[in-house]
Amino acid sequence: MTEENDVLILAIESSCDETAAAVVKNGREVLSNVISSQIALHTLYGGVVPELASRKHIEKINQVIEEALNKAGVGLEDITAIGVTYGPGLVGALLVGVAEAKAISYAKKLPLIGVHHIEGHISANYIENRELEPPFLCLVVSGGHTHLVKVLDYGKYEILGKTRDDAAGEAFDKVARAIGLGYPGGPKIEQAARGGNPEAISFPQAKVRDHPYDFSFSGVKSAVLNYINGCKMKNIPIVPEDIAASFQKAVVDVLVGHAIHAAKETGLRKLAIAGGVASNGVLREEMRSACEKRGIAFYHPSPVLCTDNAAMIGTAAYYEYRAGTRHGWDLNAVPNLRLGER
Ligand code: KG4
Ligand code: ZN
Repeated sequence: MTEENDVLILAIESSCDETAAAVVKNGREVLSNVISSQIALHTLYGGVVPELASRKHIEKINQVIEEALNKAGVGLEDITAIGVTYGPGLVGALLVGVAEAKAISYAKKLPLIGVHHIEGHISANYIENRELEPPFLCLVVSGGHTHLVKVLDYGKYEILGKTRDDAAGEAFDKVARAIGLGYPGGPKIEQAARGGNPEAISFPQAKVRDHPYDFSFSGVKSAVLNYINGCKMKNIPIVPEDIAASFQKAVVDVLVGHAIHAAKETGLRKLAIAGGVASNGVLREEMRSACEKRGIAFYHPSPVLCTDNAAMIGTAAYYEYRAGTRHGWDLNAVPNLRLGER
């Protein structure tokens, strides 16, 4: 049931390899969340092929939006505003969503709200945690980003630390490829790790000296590659499960360590995680137990709201809408958009 003063956002997400649309009511109620994944397509190439991603988005986007409206039981005439991811991401992929959002907004005379993809990931936490309000800390760990963020208010962020090189998800993807697990690496490493020993191999921790909130994952990735080469040279059989479990532990320990350290230093008693890697069961459990020990409230979205989706973009767009954000006909895709920029 929708009422006259309800704010209904139609949200569109196409920044990487998911074509997604959702209808979100009053910020936190997801009426529909449709995701068309391109995983099967990109698996053939061992990773996302940008041009193929754009082509697939253009093929799917109208159907995905139609399905999102149908599932929500609403039409375009019921929609209050259009929210769309306009960066960061793959430029050709972003352009498909942005052009589509602009076309609908133009045809239906609806306000247009460009959303930062990371703001979307962070906002995914509001959907199932109705009581969660800023300020809180959020660790954003995805295929393209690893950010430790202080969420000061809706739409207001302070970045405490980020990765100096690879993102956490990117490291999972590269290590998975190296041990022959395929794409996307995160879920495959997690699955393989269940049968392995996390103490089998000691990989370096992804820390940056004198910068307690920054991350560096290229060292641990190289250590895995060196380990594999060393085994090959010495004719020692590799055990992918042990590599997966030991690598996962090295990454999770640092993510948990940094986040807890930031909670202590800032005095914030609420800690959330977001992004594709936040669906990792070991990360969730380790973070939960570290928070519990210290009396910190821990929040995380369901796995389907951790990886790319449009519901999170709808939630972020709602708070931007309330804050008065409106984009014009000149909205463009910004592949390297920084958090907090308009
Ligand atoms: O948030 P997302 O869908 O896309 C970006 O914005 O990048 O994140 C995708 C990333 C990929 O690198 C994928 O390997 C990783 O999240 N990922 C995981 C898991 N599920 C997805 N990493 C670790 N464990 C998982 N279960
Ligand atoms: Zn993402």
